[in-house]
Amino acid sequence: MTRMKNIGHILFGSLIIAGVLFPELALAQDDRQRLQGLDLARDLCSGCHVVTENQRGTAIDGAPSFPMLGRSGRSNDHLRVWLSEPHPVMPQMPLSEEQIAAVIAYIRSFAD
Ligand code: HEC
Repeated sequence: MTRMKNIGHILFGSLIIAGVLFPELALAQDDRQRLQGLDLARDLCSGCHVVTENQRGTAIDGAPSFPMLGRSGRSNDHLRVWLSEPHPVMPQMPLSEEQIAAVIAYIRSFAD
């Protein structure tokens, strides 16, 4: 077996391992955006909002749950406005355009 062939096998094997370890790499762009939104929601929003169907605890009074928001028919523009400026009790948390789009895609996924 030549050296080049070996390298090819190693590269191919690494790709398969990457696919097993990081299945999200194989997901469609939409799914990736939603996953990014879920990560952001867990990190930045779950202290006040319930951000998944099965989250227990830590929602504060008056903060609507994301599943409810997603099913409520609120428009992307409405969500974008809320996410572009910090809301009353929400600390300053400037999200990038990309992050805003990801969180919106995540919230809206509950409406599917
Ligand atoms: C410190 C607590 C807190 C954090 C952190 C927080 N929120 Fe909120 N959020 C609230 C509260 C309370 C309300 C309700 C405000 C109101 O109705 O006046 C709210 C309202 C909203 C609304 C508007 C809902 C509607 O009625 O249409 C959206 C959208 C929203 N939050 C998204 C987010 C996202 C996304 C994050 C994370 C990036 C986040 N919030 C982080 C407390 C928080």
